[in-house]
Amino acid sequence: MNIRVIIYKTLATFGIKRNKPIIPEVPFKEIVSNIEIEPIEKKGDDGNITLAELKTISAIVRQNQPNKVFEIGTFNGRTTINLAHFSPQNSTVFTLDLPKQDLGHTKFTIEDGDKAYVDKETIGDRYKNNADKIIQLYGDSATFDFKPYYGTIDFMFVDGAHSAPYVINDTEVAFKLIRPGGIILWHDYGIWRGVTKVLNNYFKKDARCKELKHIEGTCFVYYKSNEKKLN
Ligand SMILES: C[S@@+](CC[C@H](N)C(=O)[O-])C[C@H]1O[C@@H](n2cnc3c(N)ncnc32)[C@H](O)[C@@H]1O
Repeated sequence: MNIRVIIYKTLATFGIKRNKPIIPEVPFKEIVSNIEIEPIEKKGDDGNITLAELKTISAIVRQNQPNKVFEIGTFNGRTTINLAHFSPQNSTVFTLDLPKQDLGHTKFTIEDGDKAYVDKETIGDRYKNNADKIIQLYGDSATFDFKPYYGTIDFMFVDGAHSAPYVINDTEVAFKLIRPGGIILWHDYGIWRGVTKVLNNYFKKDARCKELKHIEGTCFVYYKSNEKKLN
């Protein structure tokens, strides 16, 4: 596990949080009726979401049956393959990651804690034998052309770079990508300072974000947009 995450988690167990989470915590049952689920590729690597989180995200996808999914931050593809596995047969999972050779050429600074996850030999090796529904995209989320996907995404997973400028960028992207009724899930709330600070600010100041929910036992923040109107 990344040293920064270990330090934050250790501090958090003693009640010390540099940016205290303020988004209301809700039990998963408020979000998803049944979490009994067997994800695939259960073994996690440093950088992956926890198994409990993998079950939660898989259960949300199974319940909502999204046709179009977008993930920022593929990493080894362990979550990606589960997004594909639990979505309908004709669904498409788009997943974006920053190639390691682009480190040093990004719009915003990539924090040291993030560099280790960018600097890897392959992107998405966990789904490579089962990639039918998955479309791998490459680029920096701050400069990638997301326009073709605007208003089309049913389920969005934000788990790319964790510095405040990137979390703001990726959050604005997510709001543009989802269709009315679409869902956004952010990872690392309460763990990474940038994520916690930015989502706290959205919760306090942005009218769209009054209904954000922090899913108990996870680092996920959940948002479901209004079915009727665009954000
Ligand atoms: C913590 S990992 C993602 C974990 C993965 N979503 C999972 O659930 O297992 C973060 C990923 O974001 C990617 N990333 C970092 N900065 C990025 C950027 N500016 N644009 C796109 N992807 C980025 C990294 O290369 C890394 O693979």
